Amino acid sequence: MKGIVLAGGSGTRLHPITQAISKQLLPVYDKPMIYYPLSVLMLAGIREVLVISTPTDLPNFRRLLGDGSQFGLELSYAEQAAPNGLAEAFVIGADFVGDDDVALILGDNIFYGQGFSRTLQEQVSTLDGCVLFGYPVKDPQRYGVGEMDADGRLVSIEEKPERPRSNRAITGLYLYDNQVVEIAKGLTPSKRGELEITDVNMAYLRQDRARLVELSRGFAWLDTGTHDSLLEAAQFVQVLEHRTGVRIACLEEIALRMGFITADECYQLGAKLAKSGYGDYVMDVAMAAGASG
Ligand code: DAU
Repeated sequence: MKGIVLAGGSGTRLHPITQAISKQLLPVYDKPMIYYPLSVLMLAGIREVLVISTPTDLPNFRRLLGDGSQFGLELSYAEQAAPNGLAEAFVIGADFVGDDDVALILGDNIFYGQGFSRTLQEQVSTLDGCVLFGYPVKDPQRYGVGEMDADGRLVSIEEKPERPRSNRAITGLYLYDNQVVEIAKGLTPSKRGELEITDVNMAYLRQDRARLVELSRGFAWLDTGTHDSLLEAAQFVQVLEHRTGVRIACLEEIALRMGFITADECYQLGAKLAKSGYGDYVMDVAMAAGASG
């Protein structure tokens, strides 16, 4: 399976912060926001990833992440000329996806919870059609909303409904088989002029090939869309990291644990960041895994 991180958009809800920098490069406590969604793809076992962003911001993502080989990844980059909708990722990324299945994750979505990587890997290995991840929220009208029947089957999906049929938001992580490219290419823009991801999901639902996996109690799906929610996300990461002594979405550590890089390679990555606590942490993790130091 391949992966796409969609990190474009205009970030207008965070102006003036995002007037000169991409939203997905803003810090969420100790690392850039895009580390969080990228870590999700890595935990799913995905190593070939396309980063899509605006023509202005793309060079900065390249500067931050390079070709990904330091993390044992193959990263490539593509421009989205204008925010024409989430589903445009599959039109832009058609050649990249080729004949494979693909996971799309929004560059501003943060997921945290025990057992998440196992859930992801299970869903990737049993994928048939499309898998969405639902999360209970207080304000479902702000999101794509999924409705399930008594047997847990997904029966309806609506984008930002005025009267939501459930409180289950559809999060910004989507797994698809290869048909998604053809579906996305055949979409017509919505009223707001975008290729809507909800229309892609509806196409799978009509074929009875869409499933919704519930991210339940104890799981955190964090929003970074407003000044307050961005700060709260950072505080959440800070408290959790201080209290548990482990870092969330530390790409070097995940690359090591997934077997993408060796302990010595991990140590070298940490040494390059040695002036920050983050770098010290990466070196400690590498030493504990047997790096020669
Ligand atoms: O976060 C989950 C929600 O994401 C889903 O529940 C909704 O179904 C889905 O439509 C989407 O809703 P948003 O209102 O969050 O979409 P927004 O237009 O804000 O875009 C989400 C992110 O994707 C944002 O960081 C900007 C980026 N983006 C957006 C568009 C439309 C792009 O990179 N390119 C785009 O064309």
